[in-house]
Amino acid sequence: MKITIVGAGGNVGSTVALTIAQRDFAQEVVAVDIEIKKDDKSFYPSKGRALDQWQTSPIFNFDTKVNGTINYEDTADSDICVITAGLPRRPGMSRDDLLSANMNIVKTVTEQLVKNSPDTIIIVVSNPLDLMTYVAWKTSGLPSSKVVGMAGILDTARYRAFLAEELNLSPKDIQALIMGGHGDSMVPLPRYTTVAGIPITHFIGKEKLDAIIERTKAGGGELVGLMGTSAWYAPGAAAAQMVEAIALDQNRIFPCAAYLDGEYGLKDLFVGVPVRLGKGGVKEIIEIDLNDDEKALLNVSAEHVRKGLEDLNRVG
Ligand code: LAC
Repeated sequence: MKITIVGAGGNVGSTVALTIAQRDFAQEVVAVDIEIKKDDKSFYPSKGRALDQWQTSPIFNFDTKVNGTINYEDTADSDICVITAGLPRRPGMSRDDLLSANMNIVKTVTEQLVKNSPDTIIIVVSNPLDLMTYVAWKTSGLPSSKVVGMAGILDTARYRAFLAEELNLSPKDIQALIMGGHGDSMVPLPRYTTVAGIPITHFIGKEKLDAIIERTKAGGGELVGLMGTSAWYAPGAAAAQMVEAIALDQNRIFPCAAYLDGEYGLKDLFVGVPVRLGKGGVKEIIEIDLNDDEKALLNVSAEHVRKGLEDLNRVG
């Protein structure tokens, strides 16, 4: 199993690479990024981080070789490629502000990846997530089952962590589902939130739950505010979990940005829905029952994504 991470000189990409290496299921992780020129000097962050990570192998006890590079030829015949390349969000910037810059980056990267690995599966992490996943799919020419975006695992992880903290319970026992776009209009579903199989409403009142939902929706922005740049540990770990599910054919059910062709009454867009992830990518889109309120929220979120796609057409 060969896995390529693009943007691996950055925080999110290098977290994906190290997490995968530590899980020790792949033969090789190829860490790709660009050369950086500064004061007449050249730097190679993907090579540096890969070397640093490989040197943890005797300590963390893994065999997965981490190879840093700036050449896409080195990614040839990758089973799975993760795209984290793009500009990160700065304070005051919305994810949509990144649109045109990151669209060009994702297009170029995708072209290089499929040229060298025509049968690969692509996981997109770059923002604005739902739109960049669409760009990667369109550019790649791959079937939609082989292109999928990471966001729902991250958003639910934040929600689960906040709930665990509030309730003084283990995050392991909290199961949850968030649908919709990766943005302020995401749709956390309290009806599908449980603790060890017990509905969340047994543990928490409406007011506190609503506050946690609002904090979750703004979860990415909270971290940008604290660090001056966007998060990487949870986004990186979430993408690595998707890689592992596909690589090991785990048939995990995760909320991911998947291509919809009529499911949930939505067509021709990528948006967060529960999918079954395993060998070959998205094996199934799971259509759960939503009540009228939940449907309305999902439609608002999908409408936001749709508007983004129109902007995308306008800029590029
Ligand atoms: C976040 C960025 C990665 O939610 O979108 O932190």
